[in-house]
Amino acid sequence: MTLRIATAGKGGVGKTTFTAMMTRALVEKGARPALVVDADPNANLNYYLGVKYDATVSDLRESLKRDQPPSGMSKPDFTALKISEILSENDGYDLLAMGRPEGPGCYCFVNEVLRAAMTRLASKYAVLLVDNEAGLEHLSRRTTDDVDNLFIVSDSSIVALRAAARIKLLSASLELKVKNISLVLNRIKSDAEREAAISSARDIVGKDTQIAAVIPEIAEIGGMLSSGSNVFLLKDFPREILEPLVSPHET
Ligand SMILES: Nc1ncnc2c1ncn2[C@@H]1O[C@H](COP(=O)(O)OP(=O)(O)O)[C@@H](O)[C@H]1O
Ligand SMILES: [Mg+2]
Repeated sequence: MTLRIATAGKGGVGKTTFTAMMTRALVEKGARPALVVDADPNANLNYYLGVKYDATVSDLRESLKRDQPPSGMSKPDFTALKISEILSENDGYDLLAMGRPEGPGCYCFVNEVLRAAMTRLASKYAVLLVDNEAGLEHLSRRTTDDVDNLFIVSDSSIVALRAAARIKLLSASLELKVKNISLVLNRIKSDAEREAAISSARDIVGKDTQIAAVIPEIAEIGGMLSSGSNVFLLKDFPREILEPLVSPHET
């Protein structure tokens, strides 16, 4: 069974950093191969991972509309084939970037493919990790559905925790098929901030909020991209915090 993981949360709280670090934790733990999906139209996960991709799903839209499948091949199989051709293949994981949707209000093709990727494509992988854009759209469009673990990432700020609360509420009201929703508190600078953040999370997100992990502020992450580095090169890597999150039996 593929373990399906997705992120949610306010912009800038560390969703992409978390996804990239989870990718490393998974690969190093041997939970491979992983399919890592960058579902943020403003794709940047590849930089955090230190890899490149040639094309996004959105780039395929025109050619898939135009080209007919070879005889004997169904359209969904043809789409799956074309997508497999644009996977960025790396040591232990493949990266798929969704790219930009058609235009405002029309997310049809990219979202259809994303849903298909979460079911068909993902079955070949040990783990599916989806990094989402900020906000609630991916929930209401139901591209974050049917996942085992939804990690809502937040820093200790009230604004980010309020966004986390909205995500939790919306997920419940949409009756998404998410098995487990938990909070990841990120960029925590001290024990005092940890205590305060946990207490605020209980007040704002809810008493029953499960806190899956508390990740410290890691100075090395600050200059990581500008110095051409990536999560796989981090010396200060919070492996012991992330590894428990990737065990299927922990969910
Ligand atoms: N644990 C951390 N320690 C230090 N900096 C972090 C940490 N997590 C994220 N950051 C920084 O926060 C910024 C936003 O992170 P990012 O993962 O892009 O957020 P999001 O995907 O939620 O918009 C980046 O500059 C990143 O380097
Ligand atoms: Mg991001």
